[in-house]
Amino acid sequence: MKCTAIAPTNIAIIKYWGKEPEWEEEHIPTKSSLSFTVKELYTKTTVDAGEGNGGLEFHLNGERKEKEDQAYEYVLKFFERLRRVVPEIGNYDYRIISKNNFPTAAGFASSASGFSALVKAIAGVMKEEKWFEEYSGEKELSVFARLGSGSAARSIPCKGGVVVWKRGERKKNVSETSYAESVVSPEFLQEISIIYVKIQEEEKKIKSRKGMKMSVETNPLYWEWVNYEEEKLLPETIGFLKGKNFKGVFENIMKASNNLHQICMGTYPPIIYLNEKSREVIERIHEFNEEEIKAAYTFDAGPNAVVFTTKGHEKKVMKMLEKIVGKKRLLLTAVGEGPRYVEEHLEV
Ligand code: ADP
Ligand code: DP6
Repeated sequence: MKCTAIAPTNIAIIKYWGKEPEWEEEHIPTKSSLSFTVKELYTKTTVDAGEGNGGLEFHLNGERKEKEDQAYEYVLKFFERLRRVVPEIGNYDYRIISKNNFPTAAGFASSASGFSALVKAIAGVMKEEKWFEEYSGEKELSVFARLGSGSAARSIPCKGGVVVWKRGERKKNVSETSYAESVVSPEFLQEISIIYVKIQEEEKKIKSRKGMKMSVETNPLYWEWVNYEEEKLLPETIGFLKGKNFKGVFENIMKASNNLHQICMGTYPPIIYLNEKSREVIERIHEFNEEEIKAAYTFDAGPNAVVFTTKGHEKKVMKMLEKIVGKKRLLLTAVGEGPRYVEEHLEV
């Protein structure tokens, strides 16, 4: 049984950075987060499953990953967690072939598109199985993707657009209630341009998983940041998006990015993801916004920037970024839809 899915990456505009210490293994976030589904950056994954007992073969970007590789370990751990929720998953052997059409582990959220594509492809393979029916809804698939990588939960909703991943209800079954859903459709945000600015393509030094754990454990201001964003920044940003108040949206995006990197800086030892070029992007955008907010930047766990503007200002912003990194390092895209199935499978 073979199935192939394509899943987009997403860029967080209100960040996820930390798991509840009590539910770390289930990737329950300390706070809710918000993202744009990205149109042109995606993972394609083919899952081939046959009767067996949980055997795993994993190929990523044309390379067979061995047991000692970190990427293999992430996928293996994902299957272990998934088996705890869906024991039948253990009755198959899997061969997984996956390709990202953008740099892996460089701060472009390859784990988000990677694990959502994997979950969609597994769901496609299992869809004829009677036992799978109760798990096939979008909420369930978002929970499964979360077990692979937190941010992957946000790349599951088919509608895409703006997606919120809820922290989950602490008093109920927290794992079942921490999933993502679309709150604004991509058609509604056609005016928004998203520009990926490749500042560095090499893999980053401190992976998000490790970095966020260090922040939760050592940053004395960590929970204040969580409360501020959960109570104020996130609901306000959703309101601005629904009302197409792009000035408000852009301002909050920049604040949220700065807050994340402030949390990283206040971690001990400090985590510094931004470099000289990243800082240049920040400064140029604030200069550009001097009279009126027309663009925004955000940075994840790496020096690469993602810049947002509206169609009317796109050319100017592209020119400005070109001067910093050169034309070849820019990728212009937009808010897009969620994952889908394709007929053409990947071969080893
Ligand atoms: P990124 O910024 O790219 O998300 P992370 O360090 O958070 O960086 O995650 C990168 C990791 O995600 C990789 O090292 C690998 O373990 C996993 N990953 C990336 N792409 C895929 C994929 N297509 N399928 C499965 N896992 C993937
Ligand atoms: C900075 O989802 O990669 O991109 O759940 O441990 O796999 P794990 O972490 P991951 O972290 C993403 C962190 C971020 C912010 C975000 O996407 O919200």
